[in-house]
Amino acid sequence: MTDALLVETRKAAAAAWWRQAAVYQIYPRSFADANGDGIGDIPGILSRVDYLRDLGIDAVWLSPFYPSALADGGYDVADYRNVDPRLGTLEDFDAMVRALHARGIRVVVDIVPNHTSDLHEWFQEALDAGRGSAARERYIFREGRGENGELPPTDWVSVFGGPAWERVEDGQWYFHNFATEQPDLNWDSREVREDFLKTLRFWSDRGVDGFRIDVAHMLTKDLTEPLPSRAELELIPQDGKHPLIDRDDVHEIYAEWRRVFDEYDPPRTAVAEAWVSTPERRARYASAEGLGQAFNFDLLVADFDAAQFRSIIAENLAQSKMSGSSTTWVLSNHDVTRHATRYGLPALNGRPVKQGTEWVAAGGPESRLDRDGGRRRAHAATLMLLGLPGSTYLYQGEELGLHEVAEIAPEQRQDPAFFRGGEFDGLGRDGCRVPLPWTASGASFGFGSGAAHLPQPAWFAEYAVDAEAADPSSTLSLYREALRLRHLLQAGESLEWVDTGSDDVLRFVRPNGWQIVTNFGVVPFDLGADAEHVALANVEVEGGLLPGEATAWIAPEGLNPGR
Ligand code: GLC
Ligand code: CA
Repeated sequence: MTDALLVETRKAAAAAWWRQAAVYQIYPRSFADANGDGIGDIPGILSRVDYLRDLGIDAVWLSPFYPSALADGGYDVADYRNVDPRLGTLEDFDAMVRALHARGIRVVVDIVPNHTSDLHEWFQEALDAGRGSAARERYIFREGRGENGELPPTDWVSVFGGPAWERVEDGQWYFHNFATEQPDLNWDSREVREDFLKTLRFWSDRGVDGFRIDVAHMLTKDLTEPLPSRAELELIPQDGKHPLIDRDDVHEIYAEWRRVFDEYDPPRTAVAEAWVSTPERRARYASAEGLGQAFNFDLLVADFDAAQFRSIIAENLAQSKMSGSSTTWVLSNHDVTRHATRYGLPALNGRPVKQGTEWVAAGGPESRLDRDGGRRRAHAATLMLLGLPGSTYLYQGEELGLHEVAEIAPEQRQDPAFFRGGEFDGLGRDGCRVPLPWTASGASFGFGSGAAHLPQPAWFAEYAVDAEAADPSSTLSLYREALRLRHLLQAGESLEWVDTGSDDVLRFVRPNGWQIVTNFGVVPFDLGADAEHVALANVEVEGGLLPGEATAWIAPEGLNPGR
């Protein structure tokens, strides 16, 4: 190979790092607290970079660490180009990026473009400047209905529950898709668009490798009068022309962002959080002319069930062919009940169910949770996921097998979704955001030197990093081994299904010969001669049999994956 060709090849490989990456999501306020104030911070992350290296992930994605009043866990951003002083400084951020890069770990940050915090200087200016001002044009202000404008412009409800309009002192109303403290921006405003380009360049210049785009499908709106009622709104198909959701014109924004990403070498990457109606519509966000990749949340609402997994995998692989992107896999994140817990509760097709006054999912009543079974099924599902083509997003704490924390008193809860009675499994999302246990004893289990900002239950001791690191049969050891071997099997972005003769067993082979077998049922599955080549499994494979609720990775013949 000539030198020039070699350089080109290396460049192409560097640019494609994201296609099959294992990305670890850090929820900074709950990861590690360096100064003992109960809130995780950037120096805390810096102190744990070796843990991240040993885990074997390719990148981290940080949920928002920007200045925020925490009306929505940081997704209410008061300043997009700064670090919350409680979490550190820009210099701390730079030091963290350097330390991660030195360990071969890429850095993805969260961009929240649909709304700002009500404390953002733009919104404060809009309140002061009054009706008809240019400052109000950056947001969505309207006159109310009724004789004195005392009724909201429409009866729409916010995603977190409760009205989607809030009245300000001079009588106008502003629109908020989420909490009252999260006014929606007006993406018709050129100034708004320019400011986000500035933000993307700001972080790219600091060495950030990619971006996760919050509610990427909601930015553009058509609010031409007369506005539909809530009931009418629900009947409008989400096919590109809906007034609020997944409008075709949102892609003009991302085309402009793509030009910014491509100013960098390697180009910056992006992944869309887009809860849209079909895989076809999702593919638009993942196109190379747009954000490049989109989250696939299908497994978040699926049971631990072979048929459901198989059709979701097949559909998403087909979708990635359509977009030219790679598939993404997610079992847990900061918005949903942890998957160990989901799989330990009665199969509900992933959806929470209210029985009387009690929520059955969402960490539900302890009595209904099968802790060990849930964790075993979570292991099997995760091992399958890590063997699939595409990139996998892991959420902090899942590598410890953590369950959702149900035991948080109402007065200790923080999630606006809990207080506004909206979506998110009835109990809200605090249960998956409880600070990590690093040590089996000590104040806040080694998270910091004082109490953590959300209460940690006594059972966290069992899941502590120090306990699990010392135990070869722990979840942490399983993740480390899987992430190490994963680098060997992620060649080629495809798979071929192998018939197993059982409805409960899925088996596929990757282009380089690695095979993944998952037994979703309870009857052991005979691996035959392949049992000799099992390189990894979440349970003991004995007598050639893969027990129920288990996944095995079978190495190609002649390959010794070593230890
Ligand atoms: C996204 C985030 C969620 C947040 C919401 C509003 O769905 O993942 O945590 O509450 O957007 O920003
Ligand atoms: Ca702190």
